[in-house]
Amino acid sequence: MHLPVSPDESPVNDLSLRDAAALLTGGAFWSTAQVGTVPSIVLADGPHGVRLQKQGTDHLGLHHSEPATCFPLAVAVGSSWNPQVAEQIGAALARECRELGVSVLLGPGVNIKRSALGGRNFEYYSEDPLLTGVLASAHVKALQAGGVGASLKHFAANDQETDRMIISSDVDERTLREIHLAPFERVVTEAQPATVMCSYNKINGVYSSENRWLLTDVLRGQWGFGGVVVSDWGAVHNRVRSLEAGLDLAMPGPGDLSTGAVVAAVDSGLLDDTLVRRSASVVAGLVQKYAAASTAAQNVTAQNVTAQTVAAEEATAQNGTPQEYADYVAEHHQLARDLATECAVLLKNDNHALPLTPNSTILVTGELAVSPRFQGGGSSYVNATQIDVPLHAIEEHAAASNCTVLFERGVDSSGDDSSQLRAAAVAAAKDVDVAVVFAGTLEAEESEGYDRTHLDLSTDHVALIKDVSSVARRTVVVLSNGGVVTLEAWHDDVDAILEGFLLGQGSGQALADLLFGIANPSGRLAETIPLRLEDTPSYLNFPGEQGHVRYAEGVMVGYRHYETVQAPVRYPFGHGLSYTTFDTTDLHVTETGPDSVIAQVTVTNTGSVTGKHVVQLYVSTQAGPVRRAARTLGAFTKVELAPGQSKVVHLELDRRAFAYWDIDRAAWVVAEGSYAIQLCANSSTVLSETSVNLAGDGLPAALSLQSNVGEWLAHPVAGAALTPLLTALISQAAAREDDSAQVAAAVNVSDLPDMVRLMPMIQLVGVSGGAIDPDKLLQLTTGVEAS
Ligand code: BGC
Repeated sequence: MHLPVSPDESPVNDLSLRDAAALLTGGAFWSTAQVGTVPSIVLADGPHGVRLQKQGTDHLGLHHSEPATCFPLAVAVGSSWNPQVAEQIGAALARECRELGVSVLLGPGVNIKRSALGGRNFEYYSEDPLLTGVLASAHVKALQAGGVGASLKHFAANDQETDRMIISSDVDERTLREIHLAPFERVVTEAQPATVMCSYNKINGVYSSENRWLLTDVLRGQWGFGGVVVSDWGAVHNRVRSLEAGLDLAMPGPGDLSTGAVVAAVDSGLLDDTLVRRSASVVAGLVQKYAAASTAAQNVTAQNVTAQTVAAEEATAQNGTPQEYADYVAEHHQLARDLATECAVLLKNDNHALPLTPNSTILVTGELAVSPRFQGGGSSYVNATQIDVPLHAIEEHAAASNCTVLFERGVDSSGDDSSQLRAAAVAAAKDVDVAVVFAGTLEAEESEGYDRTHLDLSTDHVALIKDVSSVARRTVVVLSNGGVVTLEAWHDDVDAILEGFLLGQGSGQALADLLFGIANPSGRLAETIPLRLEDTPSYLNFPGEQGHVRYAEGVMVGYRHYETVQAPVRYPFGHGLSYTTFDTTDLHVTETGPDSVIAQVTVTNTGSVTGKHVVQLYVSTQAGPVRRAARTLGAFTKVELAPGQSKVVHLELDRRAFAYWDIDRAAWVVAEGSYAIQLCANSSTVLSETSVNLAGDGLPAALSLQSNVGEWLAHPVAGAALTPLLTALISQAAAREDDSAQVAAAVNVSDLPDMVRLMPMIQLVGVSGGAIDPDKLLQLTTGVEAS
């Protein structure tokens, strides 16, 4: 077992047992305990903005928090398919944390979008573990390079809000490893997050906070995690059991009771004192490493508050605009806008309805055009420093391109009847060149704490889109929603759909830039848009019943399901349009080892404006003894090209792109066989493909006496030894029956009837009358396994 901090060398050895135990619970709601010379540090919610609460603490997004930039949410960053977007957000967040005095920012969340109904899907990146892991790694690396610790959450299989604090996620190990743990594994091994936050739920009946297999065997032992395991707020039920399982820091504090329980357990011999010291060491190590963010802020704030107040007063006196925040505010607002333009996905654009053209008359309708929806509810709720209003940004661009803008609210979500507002919008839509309808989900429809029950837009939003599009010459729909919505009620009635998801505080400007072509859409769907809720892979098993949710879809999550069963969807994973066009050609693949390849692709911008394209490579195989998805994302990259420009890009498909989790070996295995490398426009459109034959790990199947006779015969060593024994047995049996024809036919073991071939070896051992010695047989497999 890998212990990241040796108890013998730890500075906490000088602490009394009670003091060491006191380090293991928060000192307050948002801070660690100050013990002896170990100072307290501040933790605050992220992931897309700093939610620092100085008073009225809560973890539900209810009370006020300090102003901070609300960057595009993970749902949007997922659609960027660009790790540089995640990286820039991470770096900017670090700067805000340092300014505000936050040492650990709680995020990013890398749970997989198992169901489109998940109430926190806006806080997660994707239905795909690779995309999720790559983006989250970039976020964590940049945040930590800026001197602030990350908290990778929610570990693990915490993919729903219904009964989130008590539900048992019942999931097989292959599914866990390949889908739900995979992003955590990537981020832990690539980016070494300072902390990992264990989730509220149980996994196969055991609370994550008490799950030794999860927190110690897998996280520390197999992945080499050396940081602090922190509980989700209130996820600890039994402090002693959780400590034994590997949970270092129980939050929130203060935690005198829990400290007392730990001390009592050691005193009565129920808990090993070295476990307390080990955890105290890693907590002290975290504090030591990241205290500077808290301390620097205390100093800076003390000096700067006065300086900033004077500057704010001067600015107010000069131009009437209070300038209350630090310098980064304007810079980060601009960054939030710029990054948001990379995240929106142009789903549909018939007849070049977008970008909007100069000299046109535009109707903007929908209340989200003036009250933008740009973030979700709950613990991640950020008190944004500034909010761009889409209508205002559109009006600015319109003025510059000689367009006329009309506005009709169209919908009233306060509960009043919307029909008059809608009628006014329809009347206005008759005379304009294009109607731009802002629609989406409302704040109350999606939040931490509960799941959605359907995927539809509200009836008011649907009615507005349908009625306006029935009279307007052209209709463009702009969507703002955290979880995916179905488009079926109106999809065919409109010309263009720009899906913004939740783009953060710069959303209004970003959407306007995209509508006018000042920015070119380059987002791609990080999750499938289904035709119906009933088509989604977890439909029959979400959100579970009687305290259990069965992950019965197994590894077939998201596009893996739709592609494997060939079910139609509205828009596949990876889909997204641009104002330019791209060609991806000349796919070449070179093997770099028995289980890895490098692929090369030429990308050309064949249109007339600069744009970014996402090159997507998928792997398709049936190699190995397990059911594989029709294809899985193996590598991707985003490339920017001017019109006419070409670039050759190289993408590495590493071992993991080909491996499956083998439950017999309890290991990742690359099976020998043929693997198609598919260059795709999205998960369902293959543009070109090529195949490689990989030697893989060269391991024969792991055998037990439950393995069938055919599997034993295929084993290179055991099969060779077994063949003469089996031939003799068959000959003797046939001879006894004096059936010379059967003797002739059956002595060749390759012709064994299925009934024998598929029989477990243990049965054959039983009827062999001692001719087959099971122990000797098993010994024959060990040398080969080890090699
Ligand atoms: C959430 C976490 C959050 C914590 C602190 C919990 O309820 O699940 O994501 O970081 O509260 O606010």
